[in-house]
Amino acid sequence: MPITTCIFDAYGTLFDVAAAARQAAGEPGFEKLQQKWPELANHWRLKQLQYTWLRAVTDAHADFWDVTQDGLDWALEATELHGDATLRQRLLDLYWELQAYPEVPEMLRALKSGGLQTAILSNGSPPMLDGAVQSAGIGEVLDNVLSVESVGVFKPDSRVYDLVPERFRCARDEVLFVSSNGWDAAGASGYGFVTAWVNRAGEPMDRLPWKPAHVLSDLTTIPQLAGL
Ligand code: LAC
Repeated sequence: MPITTCIFDAYGTLFDVAAAARQAAGEPGFEKLQQKWPELANHWRLKQLQYTWLRAVTDAHADFWDVTQDGLDWALEATELHGDATLRQRLLDLYWELQAYPEVPEMLRALKSGGLQTAILSNGSPPMLDGAVQSAGIGEVLDNVLSVESVGVFKPDSRVYDLVPERFRCARDEVLFVSSNGWDAAGASGYGFVTAWVNRAGEPMDRLPWKPAHVLSDLTTIPQLAGL
């Protein structure tokens, strides 16, 4: 089937999740972050994701904003940066206005002008996603922003991926699903989407039963993969 619909994971795929810690590290008052921001950003992301998986399998859903704060609190303590309420608040504020990767606006414009449907499918809550989409200025080139909050469980539960065929009335194999998270690309492959794993960091392939159809180093070739 030709691709009709391009669906993007948000955090780490369109939006640079390390940007909050990196930017705060360059601001006055947060000098102690200068050495530690990569470690902090890494712990923050990994704990945030672990908590989504654990909450999904234990049927203990919480909003992604709560999970993001829990992950940050763990990461601040692990890096001995806890106890600074101003730093914590600054990092959380920056998470609402994460930078998009530089190629994102032009890539989405190319998809839209080629007649494809575009959307985000994310663990993020609607207000968080709204903040990120607005600050990246990409609202006009997205047909929809789909949040797991409408099903109350995190990826890779198949009820989340179901939101795409339900909303766009398309077959699974008409969907190009793009994620920087190996486990999300794997889950979406198992679901039946055509998948692209954006492996910016050159990480090893996840050892899971499903593999992505494509492995990319950034998002520039997405329009070609979609048949444009
Ligand atoms: C998301 C997370 C998984 O946006 O990055 O869904």
